[in-house]
Amino acid sequence: MKLMNYFICACLAITTLAACNNTATVKETVAIKAAISKQDWGETDGTKVDLYTLVNTKGSTVKITTYGGIVTSFVTADKSGNTSSIVIGFDSLSGYLAKPPYFGALIGRYGNRIGNATFTLDGKEYKLAANDGKNHLHGGVKGFDKVVWTGTVISDTLPALTLTYVSKDGEEGYPGNLKVIVQYTLTNEDELKIEYTAETDKATPVNLTNHSYFNLSGDVNNTILSHTLMIDANNYTPVDSTLIPTGEIKVVKGTPFDFTSPKAIGAEIDSVKGGYDHNWVLNRKGSILQKVAVLADTASGRSLEVYTTEPGLQFYTGNFLDGKLVNRDGKAIQQHTALCLETQHFPDSPNKPAFPSTILQPGQQYHTVTVYKVVLKN
Ligand code: BGC
Repeated sequence: MKLMNYFICACLAITTLAACNNTATVKETVAIKAAISKQDWGETDGTKVDLYTLVNTKGSTVKITTYGGIVTSFVTADKSGNTSSIVIGFDSLSGYLAKPPYFGALIGRYGNRIGNATFTLDGKEYKLAANDGKNHLHGGVKGFDKVVWTGTVISDTLPALTLTYVSKDGEEGYPGNLKVIVQYTLTNEDELKIEYTAETDKATPVNLTNHSYFNLSGDVNNTILSHTLMIDANNYTPVDSTLIPTGEIKVVKGTPFDFTSPKAIGAEIDSVKGGYDHNWVLNRKGSILQKVAVLADTASGRSLEVYTTEPGLQFYTGNFLDGKLVNRDGKAIQQHTALCLETQHFPDSPNKPAFPSTILQPGQQYHTVTVYKVVLKN
């Protein structure tokens, strides 16, 4: 309701400005207050689901549901002032209950794949669900993307929301009770900031990420092949035929994986079997938040800067999208019409001792931050 009032005020101000423009140049600034509001969004398995709307002073909005912590839309203006969502998604819960491939969702306990759905920790072998051929993908059959999180609003005037979920010892085969808190904040600089924290009572692998699918044109009739991308990474982790890293760290220079300077995504995609679906080893050093990637679409004037504290980035070009799912605007979501930039540790790290460790120990705090910032260029 509160949000509605802001929009009505904004519309009135715009109308007044237009009427005045015929006679004199009167400049009025449209004041939009940053806010957060909540609405009922149905239920699943008897549990109520909510949808939160975050709005900043530019009028950009992010909608997040407690089902899977999913970012259902991220609406910003393009260079002509037209607004549309830069992430694909649905306007009702039913679309998400039909299990789309992780659209906008929080991914856990383990983002991406664990080979043979098995790992050994402290001498004990753990068997996970094999939900991607023989491998384990994105936390299993009912990962963090398919559970209902508890939402808490920090303040009505700050567009920030925390989502909490406690994953029980043994859930999806993982050891330890894991308490996860994810904070989403929409800043007035059009940054969607995602802060992940977790604690466990037994050693366990943890690798949390967000699986938003971006199309900066805001229209899935356009592919993402003409978007340009820069990834600040000199290396990537090659994969086998089931998309499990071979364990090698390879240089990108001279290969289609070289995005060290901005390059059209479609430029060399045909040389990569199946399209891009790989982890880049980010050049970032230390633990501070650093810019690691820039995606750009000249037609809309939108760029997306990605900042993270994570060592890896899974760049996935929507290779398995096949037109069967329909975006909120009724348009079929075809292959390569949206892409993911998933900040993370490397896939299959629990079985690759040379990769940075993903094991969280009792008494330690898991803490990572990722920011997706929309920038307009004319
Ligand atoms: C994976 C893809 C997978 C997609 C959707 C990405 O993170 O790397 O292989 O198809 O998620 O499940």
